[in-house]
Amino acid sequence: MQWATLAAAALFAQNVAAQGTMLRFACSQLVVERTDPLVNPGMKYTPHLHQIVGGNSFNVTMDPNNDPATQSTCTSCSFLQDKSNYWTAVMFFKSKNGSYTRVPQVGNGGPQGKLINNGGLDIYYLPNGKMTAFKKGFRMLAGTASNTDPKKVKLSNICHRCWTSTSEANFVGAQPCSGSDTVEIPSDPKCKMIRQTIIFPACWDGKNLDSPDHQSHVAYGNQGGASGGGACPSTHPVKLPQIMYELMWNVTNFADKSQWPTDGSNPFVYSMNLGGPAAHGDYVFGWEGDSLQKAMDNNCNLNVDCPKAGLKAQQPAQYNACTKKQQAVEQVDGWLQALPMGEPAIKA
Ligand SMILES: *[C@@H]1O[C@H](CO)[C@@H](O)[C@H](O)[C@H]1NC(C)=O
Ligand SMILES: *[C@@H]1O[C@H](CO)[C@@H](O)[C@H](O)[C@H]1NC(C)=O
Ligand SMILES: *[C@@H]1O[C@H](CO)[C@@H](O)[C@H](O)[C@H]1NC(C)=O
Repeated sequence: MQWATLAAAALFAQNVAAQGTMLRFACSQLVVERTDPLVNPGMKYTPHLHQIVGGNSFNVTMDPNNDPATQSTCTSCSFLQDKSNYWTAVMFFKSKNGSYTRVPQVGNGGPQGKLINNGGLDIYYLPNGKMTAFKKGFRMLAGTASNTDPKKVKLSNICHRCWTSTSEANFVGAQPCSGSDTVEIPSDPKCKMIRQTIIFPACWDGKNLDSPDHQSHVAYGNQGGASGGGACPSTHPVKLPQIMYELMWNVTNFADKSQWPTDGSNPFVYSMNLGGPAAHGDYVFGWEGDSLQKAMDNNCNLNVDCPKAGLKAQQPAQYNACTKKQQAVEQVDGWLQALPMGEPAIKA
C-alpha cells in the first residue's frame, strides 16, 4: 500500500497534520457484547451489539469519577498508558436464508508495517497545532446509531472504503473519507475488505466532560477528514487531539453473490440492522495522568515507545492477552437466526 514506506508515511503525515507525526496504534478485542456504559449505562443486553477495545475496567456502568487509568489492570491497546475504551457497532453479513454472521475484524497495516492484533481496530490521535488533551472523565460519541439518511452524515467524518485486495501492498487510495469513499457500506463482491473510518469532533466547549446527547460538548472544526480538525468555532474553542477509528472488516468469505439476500438489499449491516449512515463510535478517555498531553506536546509518533512522554509500547502478545468475559452473555459468533437485539440471540 502507498503508506508502506517511510517516505509515503511522511507524505501522509504532512497531509494530515502540520507536525508530520501522529499516534497510530493497534487495539485488539477486549470483548464483543451488548453493553454501552455511555449511552445505556447499567443495561445488559443493550439494543445492539458492540465491539470494544481498551482498558479492562470497561464495565456496564462507568462512573466518570472512577479513573480507568487506575482501575484497569491491562489494556488491549498498544500503549501501556492508554486505558481508554473505544467501541463501535459490529458488522454482520446477512445470508439469503435469513441467518447472520459477524464479519471478522482485522488489523490494518500502516506506515510502520503490519499492526498485529486479534480482532479490534486501529486508533489515531491526529495533531493540529497546540492541543489540549481530554480530561479525566471525558467521553463522547460520534455518529447516530438510528440514522438511515446518508445525507445526514458528513462523508469527511464517517465513511467506508472498498479494498479489492487483502494485501496492503495493493492498496491505493487517498486520505481517509475522501475520493470514492461512501457513507453507505459498499456492497460489491469485488471488495475483500471494507475499511470503516470514524473521525471524532476535535473541538471542546472547555467545560463539560460529557453532555446529555454525548455530542453537544464537542464540535467539528472547519476542516473535514483526517486533517487534525482545523480551527475551532467560538462555541467550542478548545482544540483537542483528533481521534480517528479505523476498522477493517474482512468480507473475503462473503463474495459469493448467490448467498446474498434475494431482495437486493445490502448483505452487510451494522448490529442495529442498519447500514452505513448509522455508523457510530464511542470514546471514554482513560490515559494515565497527563500522558496523552505529553504525547501530543512531544510529537510522539506511531506505535513505538516515546520516552519523552513516558509512553511504553506493549508487544502484541501482551495487549492481545487483555480480554474480558462477556457480561451480557450470548452467542455472537457463528450463524445466528437473528441479530443480537432485544432478547439474547439464539444460535441458528
Ligand atoms: C463492574 O461492575 C460490577 C457491578 O457494578 C462490579 O461488581 C464489578 O467489580 C465491576 N468490574 C470491573 C472490572 O470494574
Ligand atoms: C445460511 O447460509 C449460509 C451461507 O450463506 C450457510 O453457511 C448457513 O449454514 C445457512 N444457515 C442455515 C440455517 O441454513
Ligand atoms: C480474510 O479472510 C480470508 C477468508 O477467511 C482469510 O483467508 C484471510 O487471511 C483474511 N485476511 C486477513 C488479513 O485476516
